Amino acid sequence: MTQQPVWKRVLLKLSGEALMGDQKYGIDPERLRAIAAELGQVMACGSEVAIVVGGGNIFRGVSGAARGIDRATADYMGMLATVMNAMALQDALKKIAVDSRVQSAIDMQEICEPYIRGRAIRHLEKGRVVIFAAGTGNPFFSTDTAAALRALEIGAEAILMAKKKYDGVYDADPEGNPDAKLIPSITHREALELGLRVMDSTALSLCMDNRLPIMVFNMSVPENIRRVLRGEHIGTRVTVEAEDREEA
Ligand code: GTP
Repeated sequence: MTQQPVWKRVLLKLSGEALMGDQKYGIDPERLRAIAAELGQVMACGSEVAIVVGGGNIFRGVSGAARGIDRATADYMGMLATVMNAMALQDALKKIAVDSRVQSAIDMQEICEPYIRGRAIRHLEKGRVVIFAAGTGNPFFSTDTAAALRALEIGAEAILMAKKKYDGVYDADPEGNPDAKLIPSITHREALELGLRVMDSTALSLCMDNRLPIMVFNMSVPENIRRVLRGEHIGTRVTVEAEDREEA
């Protein structure tokens, strides 16, 4: 097994919950440090890594809407939550001397850079982690869709979907269902047709139409990001053609 990354440039989708550790909400400093340390090791291998971070540990638009806040307003609040997570992640990376830039889809120039595609690519080429905040900047679009969109814009070769708790995609909801089986490989179309929760259907369709592979894996297992980048088959691989599965 080669130690070289199989992809030069990837987009890592980090859910807000991944930063939460065992807490009920917010950011767990220990977890944040651990994620930053792992990212530091990934960068040392020469990969170019962009990150889309979610905000569900602070505010989830859909649940805000369920509590009576207008959906668009709730989604904007969720986008602000992703900016907080992005800033926390940047701070943790800075503490271990990993260079990063935060770019927000909603202009807030006193806080971070605006999203500029060419500049994001330049940062990546210079070995900086680029953290995309505020989703796509549009309500009704998830951070999964932001991950798919930004990955395509920056020419990432794969999306790494980091799960907080589970090893990949299962044939049934693994929460409270011990018979649920991990699916090692699947096509985007199969996942869409079976309604499997790889990412939401808008994001998954975008990846399918643009032949972008998605690697779903458990982020809480140390070294898993590096293992995926080295081409180890852990978790679930989502590829366009069944025959791509072993080549991806
Ligand atoms: P190079 O041009 O490649 O050297 O990139 P750079 O990001 O180091 O240069 P720049 O002078 O553009 O940025 C210096 C610092 O200012 C970096 O930490 C950027 O993230 C930050 N920065 C740049 N633009 C903005 C902005 O619009 N808003 C905020 N808040 N920070 C910015």
